[in-house]
Amino acid sequence: MTHASSTQAIPATGEVPQHVAIIMDGNGRWARQRGLPRFAGHQRGVEAVRGMVRACTDRGVGFLTLFAFSSENWRRPADEVALLMQLFLAALTNEVRKLHRNGVRLRVIGDTARFDPKIQSLVASGERLTAGNKGLTLTIAANYGGRWDILQALARLCREQPGAANAGFSEQQLAPHLSMAYAPEPDLFIRTGGEQRVSNFLLWQLAYSELYFTDTLWPDFDAKALDTAFAWYRGRERRFGRTSEQLGDADGCSLAGPAAQAARSG
Ligand code: IPE
Ligand code: IPE
Ligand code: MG
Repeated sequence: MTHASSTQAIPATGEVPQHVAIIMDGNGRWARQRGLPRFAGHQRGVEAVRGMVRACTDRGVGFLTLFAFSSENWRRPADEVALLMQLFLAALTNEVRKLHRNGVRLRVIGDTARFDPKIQSLVASGERLTAGNKGLTLTIAANYGGRWDILQALARLCREQPGAANAGFSEQQLAPHLSMAYAPEPDLFIRTGGEQRVSNFLLWQLAYSELYFTDTLWPDFDAKALDTAFAWYRGRERRFGRTSEQLGDADGCSLAGPAAQAARSG
């Protein structure tokens, strides 16, 4: 029984983060600043999602994961929850074919059983339709919570290997049961809207992600803002527990990019 940390496997990092995970926050404030109802902000938020899918595709990002609705968002006023559900339903109805034409693979993570059956069936058919696509993998986190994810993974592991608990579980045993087992862990986490918190997003998977916070509100977060985040990311030195000096030789792959490499050698 090993208890090695899963973060010992050091991902290669290039100029562009392979996996970008975003908390899309600030729709309500965007609307309020304009004297509009919160709903208008959410509508503009959907447009920003379209722009982000395009921008990530153009930049060669492999995985884009978007937090659309948290397990805590049910606490919002009933009319806002209903409007968010309508928007999700409309986006699934109108966008999936376009995503498919653009080679995007769609995945939805979260406890979708709580959604309207129409949404559940559109999710299932959208995932099926796009399953073979080789372009960007777009993951929508809906009724998602990081703690829920860890617990559902543990439940699945216990069902699969009853009795294994006595020996103690390893990270490597649990990881395949997490909702994002199909993706590498996020290289870059972005939260728009100014708050500096994780709000129960990918708790397990963010263990070694670079965390970027911006005051820009989600409806205003465009390709240019993404490039600013990527430039910041390229300047990070991803050490995964080691020292800067250790990164010096053979495996420069652990650095986020040329800026960090130049800074190190200079
Ligand atoms: C994020 O924007 C969208 C969702 C949580 C669905 P908010 O609605 O949280 O916007 P603010 O934080 O009130 O500005
Ligand atoms: C986080 O935003 C969830 C999503 C963006 C879907 P919130 O606006 O709900 O986060 P808190 O509650 O302010 O932390
Ligand atoms: Mg918010």
